Amino acid sequence: MKVLLTGAGGQIGHDLISHLTDAGHHVVATDLAPRPATHASHVDWRRLDVTDATAMHATFADVRPDLVFHLAAILSARGEKDPVLAYNVNQTGTWNLLEAARATGVGRILFTSSIAVYGPGLPDPTPDDVALWPTTMYGITKVSGEMLCDYYRRRWGMDIRGVRFPGLISAAEPGGGSSDYALFMYVDGVRRGAYEAFARPDTRIPLMYMPDGVRALLDLSRADRAGLTRCVYNVAAFSPRADEIAASVKRALPDVQITYKSEPVRQGILDSWPRALDDSRARADWGWKAEYDLEAMTADLIPKIRAMGPGPTSVTHAH
Ligand code: SER
Repeated sequence: MKVLLTGAGGQIGHDLISHLTDAGHHVVATDLAPRPATHASHVDWRRLDVTDATAMHATFADVRPDLVFHLAAILSARGEKDPVLAYNVNQTGTWNLLEAARATGVGRILFTSSIAVYGPGLPDPTPDDVALWPTTMYGITKVSGEMLCDYYRRRWGMDIRGVRFPGLISAAEPGGGSSDYALFMYVDGVRRGAYEAFARPDTRIPLMYMPDGVRALLDLSRADRAGLTRCVYNVAAFSPRADEIAASVKRALPDVQITYKSEPVRQGILDSWPRALDDSRARADWGWKAEYDLEAMTADLIPKIRAMGPGPTSVTHAH
């Protein structure tokens, strides 16, 4: 199968590409950024600016993918620093992608949405369908992206599916999300022996280990269309408090120093998100179930970060 990714150089693309190439698919990875050193030269890596409708159309007309994973986005924290960029990449980029896919006849599209579609005052756990009042430009463009996907599905009969991801945790460098405090407890814990989190210790949002995130995308991409009762699904794994993550990291790295200095913008975003997600619809419709809990993630992730050796930390990473 020919599989095209947008935003392939980001945190999800990093792990998804190897799964797709291992499964024998022809992967066309697109991003503004050049091919990262971590990706083998057999991956067909092409420059694509998703805000450029002409370039998007030309890429789709040339590749004619059977399956598209639309990953390109400016995440919540970076998007609050530059809302215009977030609007252009997330909103116009999704619009350009849907139009190019419609014009060239793409088989199937996977859209990556987020817990950021939600706003304050949510039930706990939060179901798929509640009023969506996001506080960030990122969240607003994800709500709109979900609605556009649903519209193109109904209006043009296109096969579009999506997931609302929790904060994703992996060893790859993140891209300016508000959930990055969780990831940096691991990355800085291994590489620097210390981390000062930008969130309060009692911060609790839905999180997921990347292998489950990749599996969610792959499982949904293979699901029987007739069994899908909605376009975009909540997927959940676990919802620890920040200090519970720190305690788990500390059990694996007893000398680590984790401290807290809540930063108002990112804390405000985190406090507006669900504490936990209800993903019963994904479980019922396509058999979704996360495999990793917090302890299983800690056991798997710390050796992986160690094996990677030196690399980015919260100190070198500008969100
Ligand atoms: N991890 C993302 C963020 O923090 C949420 O989708 O922006």
